[in-house]
Amino acid sequence: MAKKVDKPLWAGRLAQTPEAEAFAFQASISVDKRLVFDDIQASKAHAAMLGRQGIIPKSAAGQITRELDAISAEIKSGKLAVSDNAEDIHSFLETVLTQRLGDAGKMVHAGRSRNDQVAVAFRLYLKRTVAQIRSELAGLINTLLDIASSNVNSLMPGYTHLQRAQCVTLGYHLTAWSSALERDYSRFADALKRLDECPLGSGALAGTTLPLDRKSTALALGFNRLSLNSMDAVSDRDFALELSSAIGITMVHLSRFCEDIVLWASEEFKFVELAESWSTGSSIMPQKKNPDFAELIRGKAGRTAGNLVTLFTLLKGLPYSYNKDLQEDKEALFDSIDTITSCLRMFAGLIKSAAFNLKRMKASCTGGFLEATDTAEYLVRKGMPFREAHETSAAIVRVCIKAGHKQISSMSITELKKHSKLFEEDIYKAITPAACVRARDLPGGPAPKEVKRQIRILRKKIK
Ligand code: ARG
Repeated sequence: MAKKVDKPLWAGRLAQTPEAEAFAFQASISVDKRLVFDDIQASKAHAAMLGRQGIIPKSAAGQITRELDAISAEIKSGKLAVSDNAEDIHSFLETVLTQRLGDAGKMVHAGRSRNDQVAVAFRLYLKRTVAQIRSELAGLINTLLDIASSNVNSLMPGYTHLQRAQCVTLGYHLTAWSSALERDYSRFADALKRLDECPLGSGALAGTTLPLDRKSTALALGFNRLSLNSMDAVSDRDFALELSSAIGITMVHLSRFCEDIVLWASEEFKFVELAESWSTGSSIMPQKKNPDFAELIRGKAGRTAGNLVTLFTLLKGLPYSYNKDLQEDKEALFDSIDTITSCLRMFAGLIKSAAFNLKRMKASCTGGFLEATDTAEYLVRKGMPFREAHETSAAIVRVCIKAGHKQISSMSITELKKHSKLFEEDIYKAITPAACVRARDLPGGPAPKEVKRQIRILRKKIK
């Protein structure tokens, strides 16, 4: 037997309705039911305004708002379930209202269209969701900065091209990650500014002849301002693009951090020991302890990038104003939201429980000639032009490699003087890993004092 579907809101025009499979194809209830409380909130504001403006009787407005409160409570308690037979969440709520209130329920849609209704509910939902994402982000940044604070002196190699480059600290590395996440934090705030406008009262595309008070509904819903042009308001999904992009960028950051973690957890690096509860094993190789969580976060960055492309592709060919294609926007953005929310939490759990192998990190600062630039800069300080200093230091490195020396300081002062008369005994103190880090105390550098300053600034920015 075919599944019974609710009578659509537009049934007055069409004698026949799509058969069940076709109806389900064009329905969005399974996706947009998560807007239920936002749609209720917006409908309450709209109905109350209709009452105040004398467009519907005050008593009807009161009935509608009270019933919407009741519906909200019933859904929360589980007494009422959002029915999959409805076309979308807007149809569902109007149907329930009408079943319960009769004529009063039929009055709620005066002066509005599902086109402005969905735009307002979507924006309300996103406003609160973005606030949650920002708070998760701030929590993660604080977690990273806590670990960074205790490790401003923990030496580790810094890499370029994945080759040991210069000595830094774990605190510095984690502060680098945090700087990227702070940009994300502020990027979401920027997106919120443009998100924060109220399309309610735009109707289908060109407003309404009924005397709505748009300002009062926008105010009641906590929006900062009204949308300027109703045709734009029902067509616009820039906010979805922007948020999807902000999410995609944050996920790219998490993905890169996870790549670091996966490398560090390898036997080859051994910079980090992940907690057993944040690792998985192998079904065949008994010895394995895999960094699945980090790998999966890295993998999920792919789907958020895909969602952004979905939205771009969805929008690029749409004529003005509303088109049903727009209904596809929510699935993509909701997926990105769910993905980033879980990834932020998983990454925080993973990193909080990880044990850094500080000994191994420190030991890795020796042996790769990370002090070669510092040696060149030592010569620059003594007056040698940088290019010449670079060549001198490079020549020393080549000799060291040939002689089997692990570091420049293995060379005697007499040998060093053969390369340049400028070398004195003080070279040995200048090129220890700790000295190399300490000397990089300019703004942005890895010196412990400077990293502490960076941490303070980041903490202030996310307060
Ligand atoms: N479910 C629709 C969406 O998400 C609501 C708007 C429907 N408007 C319409 N004219 N069919 O876009």
